[in-house]
Amino acid sequence: MNDEQKREIDARHEQAKQHGVKFFPDIIYKDMIAAFGVFVLLLLLAVFLGVKPEPPADPNDAAYVPRPEWYFLFLFQLLKYFPGQIEWIGTAVVPGLAVLALLLLPFYDRSPFRHWRRRKLALAIMGAAMAGIIGLTIVAAVTTPPQEETAALTSLGDRLLAGQDLYSIQCVECHGDEGQGGEIAGVEGLEGFLMKPMNVGDYMYTREDDTLAAIIAYGQPDLGMPPFGKAYGGELSPGEIQAIVTFMRYTWDDRMEIPQDVASAGAVPALAPGEIPSYSVHIQPIVRRTCLSCHREGKKNNNYLMGSYREVLDTGDNSPVMVAGDANSLLLRLLRREEVTEIKDLDPMPPARPLKPEWVEMFELWVAAGMPETPVPATGAAPAATPTPPVTGTPPAASLTPAPTSGTPTP
Ligand code: HEC
Ligand code: HEC
Repeated sequence: MNDEQKREIDARHEQAKQHGVKFFPDIIYKDMIAAFGVFVLLLLLAVFLGVKPEPPADPNDAAYVPRPEWYFLFLFQLLKYFPGQIEWIGTAVVPGLAVLALLLLPFYDRSPFRHWRRRKLALAIMGAAMAGIIGLTIVAAVTTPPQEETAALTSLGDRLLAGQDLYSIQCVECHGDEGQGGEIAGVEGLEGFLMKPMNVGDYMYTREDDTLAAIIAYGQPDLGMPPFGKAYGGELSPGEIQAIVTFMRYTWDDRMEIPQDVASAGAVPALAPGEIPSYSVHIQPIVRRTCLSCHREGKKNNNYLMGSYREVLDTGDNSPVMVAGDANSLLLRLLRREEVTEIKDLDPMPPARPLKPEWVEMFELWVAAGMPETPVPATGAAPAATPTPPVTGTPPAASLTPAPTSGTPTP
């Protein structure tokens, strides 16, 4: 560099200084414009996109996994590489070093050049840091399971149906399928206990939703009511308990009215004249409401499970409990509350009170027709309208099913 060039550079430097910008007010002004721009953007996002609400915080919810916002996920991921004893490296040392490096930047990066080609080292370090942060964020996002959706049931209909299902499975054995209570039968430890009804105004008017939710979550162990909240060793999340409370409120509190479309969705459909009941349309809804509570995984009750079509047909200490076409099948006799003494004394089913006569009849017609799983085309339909589907694809199911195909004449 000769003197001529030096002077030229000095002159340019002088000139730039003249035209230079001041921190106050110039830079501050620019920053304020940028900050205002970001503010407006956030405002628009908040108004037009909004934030998806999470369920309200619930200290009883032991299943909730807290996790940071997405922009902290990389730190969260970093922690996973330093488990247990060496966690402090991930929490303090690594982030500390990064912040220190940033803090000391003016001291070690003293290069006067501003063009990126002359700042390869600085750019490389920055690039590596960004790649690390982005990479860790992606790994964290991919490997973290989504939060269990407890508040996903937003429509009243969904909550009512879910609540009804849960009530049927968890509560019917003790409180009855309509919350009517009465003498408990067939439940170990509570045999003969006289349960008060919950499905009456006196009861529902005097219990707030919160009270009901608390009783379900915590139980009343001294009185024989087990806890259901996950935090107390049960299997229901707060959202599920809320669903049951909603179901109880809308079904038994006569000041509330269930919307018509919701009322018909969970009901057991009546049989049309000549219609053959099928598992999926008729039997399953009855089973869910009146039997499943006692006959499911985790209950003894003669090891009879009713969770699926196969289980209903194939399980039970005295399996088969139903024989296609046999009106004296064990299950039918128990439903009709006939005395069964030849095996061992078996209680009638459901133990506490008889099934509605029209539902018993449905079971009888179903067994007579060979326990079809799916709706059978009505008899008398034109043969051309009911082509027999080829069953080659599913040989095991087909061979086990007591085949009520269109060829079988039905009584
Ligand atoms: C193993 C039997 C059993 C099961 C299952 C059960 N409960 Fe209970 N529940 C009881 C007993 C026993 C009581 C005490 C009843 C009493 O004092 O009359 C009770 C009490 C209650 C009460 C309070 C009654 C009051 O007097 O205020 C509510 C509400 C209740 N149960 C709801 C439920 C719900 C909802 C479920 C299903 C998630 C359920 N229970 C499942 C046995 C059971
Ligand atoms: C309150 C609990 C409870 C409910 C609800 C209930 N059961 Fe049972 N079930 C039992 C018990 C307990 C046994 C064991 C037999 C006994 O002790 O009498 C049993 C046994 C049976 C058996 C005999 C199984 C075998 O292989 O020995 C059949 C069939 C049966 N139940 C059908 C039903 C049907 C169908 C329903 C619904 C309509 C139903 N149960 C509802 C408690 C219940």
